[in-house]
Amino acid sequence: MTGARGDRPGRIVIGTLGLDQHEVGAMAISRALVRHGYEVVYLGRFNTPERLAAVAEQEDADIVGVSVHSWEFIAYADELLGRCRELGVGLVFGGSVLTERDRNDLLARGADAVFGPYASEADMLAQIAALVRRVRTEPDGRRAPEAQPAADAPGPLAGRVVVVTGAARGLGRAYTLELCRQGAAVVANDIDEAALKETTGAVQNTPGSVHPLAGDITEPRCPRALLDAALDRYGQLHGVVSNAGVLRSGPLTQLTDDELRLLLDVHVTATFRLLRVAGGYWRAEAKAGRTVPAAAVLTTSAAGLYGFRAEAAYTAAKAAVAALAPVAADELGRYGVTVNAVAPAARTRLTGWLGEAPPDPAADPWAPEHVAPVVAWLLGPEAREITGRVIEAGNGEISVPVGWHPGPPAPLPPRLSPADAGALLTRLVAAAAPPPALLTAGPVGFQKSGHPG
Ligand SMILES: NC(=O)c1ccc[n+]([C@@H]2O[C@H](COP(=O)([O-])OP(=O)(O)OC[C@H]3O[C@@H](n4cnc5c(N)ncnc54)[C@H](O)[C@@H]3O)[C@@H](O)[C@H]2O)c1
Repeated sequence: MTGARGDRPGRIVIGTLGLDQHEVGAMAISRALVRHGYEVVYLGRFNTPERLAAVAEQEDADIVGVSVHSWEFIAYADELLGRCRELGVGLVFGGSVLTERDRNDLLARGADAVFGPYASEADMLAQIAALVRRVRTEPDGRRAPEAQPAADAPGPLAGRVVVVTGAARGLGRAYTLELCRQGAAVVANDIDEAALKETTGAVQNTPGSVHPLAGDITEPRCPRALLDAALDRYGQLHGVVSNAGVLRSGPLTQLTDDELRLLLDVHVTATFRLLRVAGGYWRAEAKAGRTVPAAAVLTTSAAGLYGFRAEAAYTAAKAAVAALAPVAADELGRYGVTVNAVAPAARTRLTGWLGEAPPDPAADPWAPEHVAPVVAWLLGPEAREITGRVIEAGNGEISVPVGWHPGPPAPLPPRLSPADAGALLTRLVAAAAPPPALLTAGPVGFQKSGHPG
């Protein structure tokens, strides 16, 4: 397919998607493409993902371009993305209804390019030319890798390719080193390029390898760039560790919108997007009959499980991650993916109150190196049955906490009077088990309020 494609001009299937009534944009870009030497297969209005993909396959197209003028395309986007990826065909969306937010969302879901109302013709043509070139180096939708993960390297993770975010420091650095020690190829991301370089240097002399990709994981395109890097570099993706994180503490009444947004972006939104991009890839692989035994490890925190004093926003963000793990596990399990969350406890920048580390990490129960083998095992071949779980690990202890349970039920009468509501709730709360004590930071670690722990 690649050879035949390579000998002729770019071939692009263009149409509108769904019940779209307008084809002005689709016709305009078709004319521009023809003027610039492309072959255009023009399908007009009212197409489904199935029809667009069938024609793309039949015509051996490089790209499917869809013009969208109603919100209906959202219902079709994922199906079309999956089909195009299966075929190894690029997918471009265009339309005057597409906002910046739609654009970011579609790119994060896996679209190759999105052109909103103010896209210039020159920019569209440049991006389409680059996409045609890229698609032609990716026969059958699978990139020709630059390197192979060393399948014969010693270690239980030999041949496995894993993305780790926040890989430059603390826990992420320890995970990256341990994964490489166990033979994996790691695509290592961090916002701090200099620190990432240092981590990359530290994996020399391990059986694995690392490919650094600096970037802010809260950028909508970053998760997709990490998937692309894994496929371009190693030809496959077997695992993701969503670890990047920051902490902002302080009284709830003083935490700012910016701090709240930062915490939700880095812990929740970025984790969600990474799962969506990797999950979309694994789904497409499974649908094409190439199920990948894949694993995702998310990062929650004791704060997200029990609540941490003076860390309201961080607690809320980490609780969201803990809740995400079992739902993602349920959904992605059918495509061969396990999803678990780890609540680590380790001496890092985030836990500065623990003080200086002793010189020998082996003698320090708080060293991140002790959490790393747990994460590595969850990514490996022996952990295929473990999914939807939260695992707490660190400071010499490991456990599998379990979450909310319904309390003893009582009937809820219709339209309670205020007095009845008061009587009922007072009785139920008095009979319920007390909630776990909040944690606080202390010199010997996380402490349950009032109980050193
Ligand atoms: N240390 C603990 O005891 C502890 C406890 C519970 C949860 N956690 C979680 O573990 C994870 C790792 O934290 P750590 O303790 O190793 O902290 P750390 O500060 O040592 O490491 C975090 C890394 O994430 C990177 N990072 C931050 N924002 C990023 C972004 N937008 N894009 C890419 N990289 C980014 C940082 O540059 C840093 O290298 C975090 O999610 C944290 O919330 C840590």
